[in-house]
Amino acid sequence: MNLVYPGSFDPLTFGHLDVIERSSKLADKLYVAVLNNINKSALFSLEERIDLLEESTRDLGNVEIISFQGLLVDLFKVYDLNAVVRGLRAVSDFDIEFQMAQINREMNKDVETLFMMTRLEYAYLSSSIVKEIARHGGNINEFVPANVVQALRKKEIL
Ligand code: PNS
Repeated sequence: MNLVYPGSFDPLTFGHLDVIERSSKLADKLYVAVLNNINKSALFSLEERIDLLEESTRDLGNVEIISFQGLLVDLFKVYDLNAVVRGLRAVSDFDIEFQMAQINREMNKDVETLFMMTRLEYAYLSSSIVKEIARHGGNINEFVPANVVQALRKKEIL
């Protein structure tokens, strides 16, 4: 089974890494697909987000980092994919995830979405919260890998 785990990853957190590690165990191949969204202002460039992901997943032999523009479902035309993986943290994630899963299946009936419950210790974690804490000088070592801490420091928001 080949899975795709799409996201903005701006930046990668331990919550993302947890989903990557656990879903890579279930998959023959896991593609982590970084959204290259020209309209959404990201703190990290596409290249930076890809580099941080590559460094952090180097030990996972069946994980490949890719990027995409436009619709997620279009990746199913390019790669041999069986399903999308998304992490579910709390009830608050459900609405938007439900909508995305339904819309994606509407656009391509073969697109299944699998949800992985985030580990409890990461249930409150998000890239936005990490950036917010970093901006205010808080300690983010528990939330993101060391390379992301460094990258945030270089952005001079830490
Ligand atoms: O990490 P995020 O920001 O929660 O990821 C959201 C993402 C990238 C999965 C979603 O925005 C997406 O799939 N965007 C691509 C455009 C698309 O396919 N839209 C239709 C389904 S919502």
